Amino acid sequence: MPHLITTSDLTNDEVLTLFDDAFLFQDLQSNNILEGKLVVTVFFENSTRTRSSFEIAAKRLGAQVVNLEVQTSSTKKGETVEDTVANLNAMKPDAIIIRHSKCGLPASLIDYVDCPILNAGDGKNAHPTQALLDLFTIYEHFNKDIKNKKIAIVGDIKTSRVASSNLELLPRFEITPILVAPEHFMPESDFKKVRFLKEVIDEVDIVMSLRTQLERHDQQYYQTLEDFGKDYCITKDIFGNRDILLLHPGPVNRNIDISDEMLNDPRSKVLRQVSNGVAIRMAILKKLILDN
Ligand code: NCD
Repeated sequence: MPHLITTSDLTNDEVLTLFDDAFLFQDLQSNNILEGKLVVTVFFENSTRTRSSFEIAAKRLGAQVVNLEVQTSSTKKGETVEDTVANLNAMKPDAIIIRHSKCGLPASLIDYVDCPILNAGDGKNAHPTQALLDLFTIYEHFNKDIKNKKIAIVGDIKTSRVASSNLELLPRFEITPILVAPEHFMPESDFKKVRFLKEVIDEVDIVMSLRTQLERHDQQYYQTLEDFGKDYCITKDIFGNRDILLLHPGPVNRNIDISDEMLNDPRSKVLRQVSNGVAIRMAILKKLILDN
């Protein structure tokens, strides 16, 4: 049974095949590839983009979607997540998409299901579909010529599952990450590390800004997010006229992560990432449900 728990579940060839499909789905038009299939989403953490993106992707492929409303579900009555998922599985869905704050939880659910599990984010551990859509957006932007590109990943890298999945996936396609963060947001890593973006702005092709994940911090690092933004907000001042692709997984804290001006700049592909996210999730749902 194929699952998508981390990006390492896919070979490079499989990733490129997904991208071929994602290009075909990029107009986000409806088809009936997954007609008669049922997809269940179970989100124990907040989500705007990922949940709606998966739901729209499944529906565009003709599948039906049930969103478990976790706030009103029996996990609130003491049922374990494993039991909740085993019960959902007993209703014979064709895929279960799960987001949870506990690292490793989606992987541990594999033993309780007969259908693919898709990890939509587990704590700070992994967010495979986000990294796939990020790489796809880079691949599209550079007309597939992504070898030897450099990406600065900026901000709260240490608690970001988006960064963690990108750091697994991007180097496999010979994209070199440079980590840009203050000490307290810097993960342990062998990749090049710098404190400020201006130190590497002349050598990078891509900048990925990240949200400060306050919900995952056990202490307060800044009085206000504005204090972080003073040093790490992506502004026109830093970018100048350089030809750099600007990405952010969302949700963006405006004028803290990225300035209003840069969000409106044509170099920002933040909304393109969102559209591409649906196409990528259509491709991955098709693969996992039909290869099954
Ligand atoms: C991210 C997440 O939830 O991991 N957002 C997303 O899925 N697009 C990043 C974040 O919350 O900052």
